[in-house]
Amino acid sequence: MIPTPDLSHLSRKDYDDVYEPAEDTFVLLDALEQEAPKLKSLNPAVCLEIGSGSGCVSAFLSRVLEPLVVLHLCTDINPIAARCTVSTGLQNKVSLNAMISDLASPLSFRLHGKVDVILFNPPYVPTWSEEADEAQERHGIAGSWAGGLSGMEVTDRFLKTVDQLLSPQGVFYLVAIKENNVPELRSGMQSRFQLQSEIVLQRRAGREHLYTIKFFR
Ligand SMILES: C[S@@+](CC[C@H](N)C(=O)[O-])C[C@H]1O[C@@H](n2cnc3c(N)ncnc32)[C@H](O)[C@@H]1O
Repeated sequence: MIPTPDLSHLSRKDYDDVYEPAEDTFVLLDALEQEAPKLKSLNPAVCLEIGSGSGCVSAFLSRVLEPLVVLHLCTDINPIAARCTVSTGLQNKVSLNAMISDLASPLSFRLHGKVDVILFNPPYVPTWSEEADEAQERHGIAGSWAGGLSGMEVTDRFLKTVDQLLSPQGVFYLVAIKENNVPELRSGMQSRFQLQSEIVLQRRAGREHLYTIKFFR
């Protein structure tokens, strides 16, 4: 069993501004652990996490892929999250390259067709669109969860770019909840981009029915 990364350097004050790992984070970690042999066999060179928050997921992925040497890129719209991601990398002796960015926008040209593993645990909670827009503009903690209509407004913007980013053998792991309409999400990726998908893990956690979905060519 691969241990959860050490986050003891982060304080309650950090979690006022940055998403504290929770059940949705763990449904992604557990899916990655389950997928470890397949992920290693891809021999990935570039991994990209969108919305890295504390950095817990990318630090874990780096352990999953050991001893492979992989470039880990992490983006977050929240500057404090980007700082926490870097410190989590240092604390766990893994190299995480964090940048403050909206989704993968500054990277999309250079990384065209080059990303082997993409991860995104997005803000997936259904809210009014205005609430999600405001959270995106403020770059604070509400941006961790406010997802707009069907909880899909931020995710949908990213889904449009996944096909361009993925390398020929690349895989994309996305966290979703039932309210995001998982069947529609999957069939949309198939019909628009010919990306196949599979539910790697699903689990109930309180009121949420959580999924980790894998997309691939
Ligand atoms: C549910 S949290 C997940 C954090 C972490 N990956 C985890 O699993 O614990 C969603 C993260 O996405 C970030 N985020 C929201 N909108 C974003 C955007 N447009 N671009 C990049 N990151 C974004 C938030 O700041 C937050 O850190």
